[in-house]
Amino acid sequence: MSAVLEIRNLHVNINDSPILKGVNLVIKQGETHALMGPNGSGKSTLAYALTGHPSYEVTGGEVILDGENILEMEADERSRMGLFLAFQYPVAVPGVTVANFLRQAINSRMEAQYEGEDFKGISIPEFARLLRAKMDMLGIDHKFAGRYLNEGFSGGEKKRNEILQLATLEPRFAILDETDSGLDIDALRIVADGVNKLKNENLGTLIITHYKRMLDYLQPQFVHMMMGGRIVESGGPDLAQEIEDRGYEPYFAKHGVEITEE
Ligand SMILES: Nc1ncnc2c1ncn2[C@@H]1O[C@H](COP(=O)(O)OP(=O)(O)OP(=O)(O)O)[C@@H](O)[C@H]1O
Ligand SMILES: [Mg+2]
Repeated sequence: MSAVLEIRNLHVNINDSPILKGVNLVIKQGETHALMGPNGSGKSTLAYALTGHPSYEVTGGEVILDGENILEMEADERSRMGLFLAFQYPVAVPGVTVANFLRQAINSRMEAQYEGEDFKGISIPEFARLLRAKMDMLGIDHKFAGRYLNEGFSGGEKKRNEILQLATLEPRFAILDETDSGLDIDALRIVADGVNKLKNENLGTLIITHYKRMLDYLQPQFVHMMMGGRIVESGGPDLAQEIEDRGYEPYFAKHGVEITEE
């Protein structure tokens, strides 16, 4: 049976001010969802709250996966449950290569599955084969594996690295917050192609984006609009087109949300 990630009435404060004010969203394995919305509406806050970032105080609601509330779990436990957040490791890690980082991540996931049995980890040749296969699939130069994680990565390389992590870790649910990056047309296509190649019945994704073009590539079945800390509209790709044509202004009035500029 396919798993479901269910966000129920999630409320999150930052520095005591309410940012998320009751988010409801259900993502099934195999589904692709897009999350759009004006600047400052709470999209990244949702992504960070799901990672368990300490600055994001959950004041209400729950997020259910396999019958458990993941909000009560540590960040690494969430990741072992098969939840992947693209900005979980945004900082540069000097001295740790892309390959080492991925191998460690795979090992910690596998170790959890072995639960106490003697576990030696994925062998180096086996891991090298796996990594090469994923890099070939995504058209990433093998040299990339030897670079220090995120150190001096360009915006596009960071995104590609995220997609490589996604491909290697094979999570059940992935949340990709793309908004902060100025990807050029080629990088956008590479990231979109990468996500498309990884789409399968075992992966549910939530793609946060401002780019209609991204959605043209990805063809999500579901498009949601966040405004004022809530999801106020949900539909199909036609919703993204409507936002492209009309902007957010008509929706501010419709949903009684004040326009706030960051
Ligand atoms: N550390 C913080 N301290 C205070 N306010 C914050 C902090 N982080 C976020 N906020 C506020 O929370 C609100 C939601 O921000 P968030 O980053 O979730 O928006 P977003 O929808 O991702 O916007 P964008 O499209 O610009 O990425 C904004 O008003 C923002 O100023
Ligand atoms: Mg954001």
